[in-house]
Amino acid sequence: MPLSEPVVPRRHAVAAATRDRVLSALERNGALQRLGARDAAVFRTRLQRHFADAFAPLRALYGHESGEQPHFQALLERLFGIVSEAAEARTEDLRILDHRREVDPDWFLHETMIGYVCYADLFAGDLAGVGERLDHLAELGVTYLHLMPLLAARDGPNDGGYAVVDYTRVDPRLGDVDDLRALSAALRERGMSLCIDVVLNHTAREHRWAQAARAGDPHYLAFYLTFMDRTLPDAYETTLPEVFPDLAPGSFSWDDDLRAWVWTSFYDFQWDLDYRNPEVFAAMLEVLLFLANTGVEVLRLDAVPFLWKRLGTDCQNQPEVHLLLQALRALVRIAAPATVFKAEAIVAPGKLVRYLGGHDDGQRPECELAYHNQLMVLLWSALAARDATLMTAALGRMEQPPRTTGWVTYVRGHDDIGWAVTDADAAAVGLDGATHRAFLASFYAGDFPGSFAQGERFGVNAATGDARSSGTAASLAGIEAALEAGEPELLDAAVARLLLLHAVIYGWGGVPLLYMGDELGLRNDRSYLRDPTRAGDNRWLHRPRMDWKAAARRHDAGTVEGRLFAGLRRLADARRRCPPLRGGGATTPWWTDSPQVFAWLRQHPREGGMLGLANFSDTASTIDAGLVAHAGMAAGVDLLRDGAEPVLRDGRLELPAWGCAWIVPAEASRWSW
Ligand code: GLC
Repeated sequence: MPLSEPVVPRRHAVAAATRDRVLSALERNGALQRLGARDAAVFRTRLQRHFADAFAPLRALYGHESGEQPHFQALLERLFGIVSEAAEARTEDLRILDHRREVDPDWFLHETMIGYVCYADLFAGDLAGVGERLDHLAELGVTYLHLMPLLAARDGPNDGGYAVVDYTRVDPRLGDVDDLRALSAALRERGMSLCIDVVLNHTAREHRWAQAARAGDPHYLAFYLTFMDRTLPDAYETTLPEVFPDLAPGSFSWDDDLRAWVWTSFYDFQWDLDYRNPEVFAAMLEVLLFLANTGVEVLRLDAVPFLWKRLGTDCQNQPEVHLLLQALRALVRIAAPATVFKAEAIVAPGKLVRYLGGHDDGQRPECELAYHNQLMVLLWSALAARDATLMTAALGRMEQPPRTTGWVTYVRGHDDIGWAVTDADAAAVGLDGATHRAFLASFYAGDFPGSFAQGERFGVNAATGDARSSGTAASLAGIEAALEAGEPELLDAAVARLLLLHAVIYGWGGVPLLYMGDELGLRNDRSYLRDPTRAGDNRWLHRPRMDWKAAARRHDAGTVEGRLFAGLRRLADARRRCPPLRGGGATTPWWTDSPQVFAWLRQHPREGGMLGLANFSDTASTIDAGLVAHAGMAAGVDLLRDGAEPVLRDGRLELPAWGCAWIVPAEASRWSW
């Protein structure tokens, strides 16, 4: 059969007829021919394979809005025109990468994956500087680098780069698009994939689209959500939570040029886009494809829950948000299948898994990765409470992600920690949700008696009393306090705590993300207070500059840096030797007979299992060894202790204070030791 006529099953007749019209249009205008015979055949197959996944959500979103069928057909042809142009612009090495990723579609879930997150300027000055520091990443086993916002952002306050003025330009202080291309290629060469942020929900008020709107251009006015008076804003605000209740109260901001209220979920200089307008969708599709073509492999889609608004709701996680992501997913995949979507959806546990694919609509693909915010919150909760009961129960209630997707797991990131413990999860273990959340905010601000943490409250909501927390992992885990006190035992405990948290995220499955500086235990950085564009936002407390002098001590076992760095390398090593962590497995918490010990079972249909254990107590704890046998790990060995057998005492398995283990059946580990 000729390559140009691939056989792909038709999903349904309407989609198929529309698809054929789209393909004919691409033939007519020469778009397919321009790809060259081989790539045109591949492109056609992809289009046929993924068309229905774009068509169904687009029809639900825009099919009725545009009224008549010819309008919708025209919209589709335009969108697929954008896709085919991007396919044409894709460089030869990226086309090869596309093929490689199609052959190995769960590449991003291999047990070798380890992510590192940093700001290019704080880590190494600029993009070129990052390229010179790859050895540091390689030592940690990093295969995935997330560079924090690096596109051109507005001058002055810009929410750490999340107020973009031009999605096609790199922040000039960091370099230009050629530097971005060079860096992504250099990373690839070392087996590392680049991830960057794309802010879909809003642009800076200084973005060209917003400027045109302010100048009265109706085309761009329709890109944003504007209101002549307070009637609708007031109506929406009765059910809208505030994102920054103290820094940027409300969700609407008055603009003098427009003489209107503009929807601004975050800061007043971040204008929410109106995705009811297909022009916005088309513009963002172009942005995503442009960035994919610079060699970025993972697109971190910022603040996606906010993309669609509905009166009478909290305007997050609306069904249309998922349709938008599904349509974008299918379209980007056709031109640039090496690209993976990562959802930044910091939402209630019951709403989170949905971002990894529609469980209830035939598994239409959505994002491949999403932040496991619950795991992060519950880790810190267990650390403060020295008790893993809530964590075990709450994680046990969560749905598994579809097997072709995975979590990014993390201990700390650039944002505050919002204490997202639901009332129902708290009640299930006999806690009061509000009291426990207040305890956590107080504990991590360091004002709860006996707290080892030195952080600060963030986003205090005067009306509800809710508060979140800021601070680096090291400061929150007690390293800062221990160093100040000069007490070696306190420091031992703090180092062990930080490694314990990482042992869970490295051993969970998915992609663990290491946040820059945590490998060295960097403490809170108060220098942001001297910068008026940052002083009001204490999330800068945990966005320190890389301390390369501290990094120079990373091989000195007598230092905090040396201990943490070696501990993380051990985890990376163990992870590479642990095939159950590979994509396609499932992770479930496992009850033990000790409330202090968190246990989780990772099971893979082909690669067997692993039982993780983490002791959240500052004294040694034991669990019934029978539980370990019950999990299928009788006579198991501990991957975190070079394959040694676990310590048993009177039929009980013992873990030291803040200690952890990854137990695999002895025969499973034989090949790796
Ligand atoms: C995301 C970012 C956060 C930012 C917000 C608005 O939540 O992680 O830092 O403030 O989006 O763009």
